[in-house]
Amino acid sequence: MKKLWGGRFTASAEEWVDEFGASISFDQELVLEDIQGSIAHATMLAKCGIIAAEEAETIIAGLNTLKEKAEKKELQYSTKYEDIHLNIEHLLTELVGPVGGKLHTARSRNDQVATDMHLYLREQVKEIENLINEFQVSLVEKAEKHVETIMPGYTHLQRAQPISFGHHLMAYFWMLERDKQRFKGALERINISPLGAGALAGTTFPIDRKYSAELLGFNGIYENSLDAVSDRDFILEFMSASSIMMMHLSRFAEEVILWSSQEFRFIELDDTFATGSSIMPQKKNPDMAELIRGKTGRVYGGLMSLLTILKGLPLAYNKDMQEDKEGMFDTVKTVKGSLKIFAGMVETMTVNEESMKDSVTKDFSNATELADYLAAKGMPFREAHEVVGKLVLHCIQKGCYLADLPFHEFKEASSLFKEDIYEALNPYNAVVRRNSAGGTGFSEVSAQIKKGKLLLGQG
Ligand code: ARG
Repeated sequence: MKKLWGGRFTASAEEWVDEFGASISFDQELVLEDIQGSIAHATMLAKCGIIAAEEAETIIAGLNTLKEKAEKKELQYSTKYEDIHLNIEHLLTELVGPVGGKLHTARSRNDQVATDMHLYLREQVKEIENLINEFQVSLVEKAEKHVETIMPGYTHLQRAQPISFGHHLMAYFWMLERDKQRFKGALERINISPLGAGALAGTTFPIDRKYSAELLGFNGIYENSLDAVSDRDFILEFMSASSIMMMHLSRFAEEVILWSSQEFRFIELDDTFATGSSIMPQKKNPDMAELIRGKTGRVYGGLMSLLTILKGLPLAYNKDMQEDKEGMFDTVKTVKGSLKIFAGMVETMTVNEESMKDSVTKDFSNATELADYLAAKGMPFREAHEVVGKLVLHCIQKGCYLADLPFHEFKEASSLFKEDIYEALNPYNAVVRRNSAGGTGFSEVSAQIKKGKLLLGQG
């Protein structure tokens, strides 16, 4: 079989070797971007007088026909043509005749593939931003309903201080807000054009790179042709932002898993996002949350893989770089799927307010309140900490909680204690009063929610 680049070769390659080198099985995902890039390139070639206007018209009409077929999934690809670029060129030439061969003037597959991936990621990142927004909407809506729902806050997974459940949810809102900013930042560098860098050194043809960049909606062009074809930072940035975001989702997933266990009973997942066991009839498993936690691993893997692929590559293009695609596609799919599932899971979960409240009344997470009470009355905090520590120990030995102690026992511990101590021990009061900026006090949580909604354009 004669290759499109076969001029210099005498022996034709063997099929099994071709298959190893081919990327068409996965890079066909880029078909629409490839056609879009080619249309811009042909338009530019004609505008610069490098090919005739009629030739460009023929080529572009052919590309549009291929585009329609691609959208209907009617194109037949072959590993004989290695990758999406050569497959499209082959199909185009079949369709419009030898003039199709003029499309590749002043271009190389090296700037072509880079262009395709820039175009592809640009659209995907925009979609991901929208999905983050949707997830943030479900978080804000849930948080709004639970500003005054009290739950134990944890450090070391030990009950620490009571907090508002809305506050807890909003913590994830802000993580996702940073994630979104990271994607937005990456987008700036994704949205520049490598097209016209040629194989590595530019071209002798009088092309207009800025014009083709403009046609493709890019914000600018790479300043250096070697950099343009060897750069994959834009994918790495996307993958780093994705990894950090998946780490957030994974932490949240872990909490969802804990909260829906019999030990916590803080939430119940909607049946849509849970599964049963094939042997234990009582089970309701948080599979989707577990899967998201698990899938975080493959997203990290994609990042590590690409960093490793690129490390040590001399400039400019090397075939190693063909390995950049599958991880990128996989990350896009995983991130989009995880965001969608998580948003639905949060939206539909039932919050067991009673069980949360129960947990904060039967524990020592109000001990800080007691120490703060003494400190507010002038006792140095360290001393107050000691006094309360002893009271906690006393309770443990007695088998009760702080609020169960009779007043005279408080009095014996410190004369600063007054009858209003029981007010301070009420977990609701402990939360409502924590109104330092960004704290869990109800008015602060409401303020956060308001800011969040403003950011989402719901102000
Ligand atoms: N399929 C190739 C890739 O994805 C396209 C670029 C090929 N360029 C080349 N000089 N062999 O990297």
